[in-house]
Amino acid sequence: MNKTGLDYVHGYAPVALSRLQDQARTLADLLHHDTRYPPGAHVLEAGCGAGAQTVLLAERSPQATFTCVDVNESSLATARDRCTGLNNARFIRADVRSLPFPDATFDHVFVCFVLEHLARPDTALDELIRTLRPGGTLTAIEGDHGSVLMHPDNRASRAAIACQVRLQRRARGEPMIGRRLFPLLAAAGLGSVHVEPRTVYADATRPGLVDGFVHRTFTAMIADIEDAAVDAGWVTRATFAEGIAGLRRCTEPDGAFAYTFFKAVGVRPEAPPR
Ligand SMILES: C[S@@+](CC[C@H](N)C(=O)[O-])C[C@H]1O[C@@H](n2cnc3c(N)ncnc32)[C@H](O)[C@@H]1O
Repeated sequence: MNKTGLDYVHGYAPVALSRLQDQARTLADLLHHDTRYPPGAHVLEAGCGAGAQTVLLAERSPQATFTCVDVNESSLATARDRCTGLNNARFIRADVRSLPFPDATFDHVFVCFVLEHLARPDTALDELIRTLRPGGTLTAIEGDHGSVLMHPDNRASRAAIACQVRLQRRARGEPMIGRRLFPLLAAAGLGSVHVEPRTVYADATRPGLVDGFVHRTFTAMIADIEDAAVDAGWVTRATFAEGIAGLRRCTEPDGAFAYTFFKAVGVRPEAPPR
């Protein structure tokens, strides 16, 4: 647990920040082809990290303004550097569980790959919705580590992925939160909640996804937890290595890999949500 009171499973090493950048760039069209904010809209991006999504959002909605918050100062510094050419994004250190903004400050809220790291995504949603004006939208995008499909399937790869799931749960996160977005947003009182699964499917005909997602995002994320998983006694080093090899095997000409993200949008009703 660090001084923010969070035990954030991916950590803040340059390699982890760079992986988020690869992920954002590779998935930009899949996740954001329909993310547009109108001129003059004021948008809160919660848990912006190193600004990997911010760049995409701010470029796609150049006449909206983005207030981007994160608990981690070094990630915010990277985000500020990355966004120097953009004049519609500002970065503030803040905790999404207790935001320094009055009620109904924002026209829209955007949160991506953050709820999965929170012990209480429900109370964080309440706080985010408090800052959202009635009629404004909240967009949440999350992954789901239970959604992996591999060909050929590999027991050791599944064991390695299961270690990532255990580590994230040990840090009080929920790595399978994607499938829960509908009930979470509905229970938070948002109306017109609409959830879409967005599947990344990679085979040899999609070399950009094979490299950008299977190798540089998903396999890199799993490879990163080898020491933690072995130290915890959940898997042997040999099995873990076999698992990583199994993930790479899916990227050969006769292989295939799929992972599903979930994108949810809900509207804050006129009356207080709950
Ligand atoms: C997986 S990263 C995602 C970053 C960014 N949204 C992206 O997609 O590249 C999760 C981010 O959430 C931030 N975070 C976790 N808990 C937070 C909290 N309670 N308040 C603000 N930020 C938080 C972490 O510091 C980290 O930067």
